Amino acid sequence: MFILPNNATIIEVGPRDGLQNESKHVNEKDKLRFIGALQGANIKEMELTSFVSPKWVPQMADANAILKNTPVNGRQFVLAPNAKGAELALDAGARSIAVFVGVSNTFNQKNINRSTDESMDALVPVLARLKDEGVFIRACISTAFYCPYEGKIEIDAVVELCKRFVAMGADELSVADTIGMANPKESYALFKILKEEFPNKLLTAHFHDTRKMAIANIYAALQAGIDRFDTSAGGLGGCPFAPGATGNVATEDVVNMLNTLGIETGIDVKKVCEAVSLIAPHVSRPIETGMYRLFRNGQL
Ligand code: HMG
Ligand code: MG
Repeated sequence: MFILPNNATIIEVGPRDGLQNESKHVNEKDKLRFIGALQGANIKEMELTSFVSPKWVPQMADANAILKNTPVNGRQFVLAPNAKGAELALDAGARSIAVFVGVSNTFNQKNINRSTDESMDALVPVLARLKDEGVFIRACISTAFYCPYEGKIEIDAVVELCKRFVAMGADELSVADTIGMANPKESYALFKILKEEFPNKLLTAHFHDTRKMAIANIYAALQAGIDRFDTSAGGLGGCPFAPGATGNVATEDVVNMLNTLGIETGIDVKKVCEAVSLIAPHVSRPIETGMYRLFRNGQL
């Protein structure tokens, strides 16, 4: 049967996940225009940037300027991988911070140069500090379905990692199909269990669209009771340390599906497409999402 929510929340990750993997340098002014246009589409939760090592991810080297020059509008996340990132984010005025850890040890090692356990141990004092500062803490759980190095990930391992984050004070769990390999049955199975385990936590689904199953996976997650989705305008995205990961599922396509299902997001699809048209000339791959194609053809 169709069990669907009346409302859903979109967390736009384009300025962060969308651009972090972009090989061409995108300048600060163009990123800020993109962010401004996305805010203009009534997006109230967004990942703006990452306070990560500029040697590891050069595209995010302007994190400080991006955060400081973005007008506050809803929940604006910045990513931080460690104590140094969290400190820099706090200094720049961040009030919503996302930390990230992979269920898969090998992926975590490639992504943040630590084992999963080492990362979690190191994050204990970081999250305690953020709690003291009254910061909203989002925990991003990578490789929750498949790992490019270790293959299939067991549900129990995801639940265990989520439990540790909840015990450490995370306000939100964003659970990711990093390389876009999950199918709708797997999406339903994992999110159903997470919903039962963490009925009072904000639970978010983060799908990459490598195999074009992200929309189907979102539909399955909706059936499991999930109503928060990370999406990226233009379907931009990918993790530099996850081979095979292509873009995130496109904001404009997800919002359109939700609208047609009668699920309110408050987001203006046409304005999202306008934001996409601002960033399109600055990225190295063509943007071919369903709704953006209609927009370009004047059919929206
Ligand atoms: P490391 O080399 O082990 O770091 O990298 P370290 O602690 O040994 O420090 C080395 C140098 O980096 C030092 O500087 C530190 O100060 C500096 P030096 O003394 O050599 O001049 N440093 C930093 N600088 C700026 N910001 C920081 C920072 N930390 C140390 N935060 C580190 C470890 C975590 C820094 C590195 O591995 C890193 O930056 N990784 C980031 C990887 C990344 O951004 N990945 C993409 C985001 S996650 C993602 O996309 C997945 C997600 O979308 C969900 C999904 O789809 O799965 C969220
Ligand atoms: Mg991602």
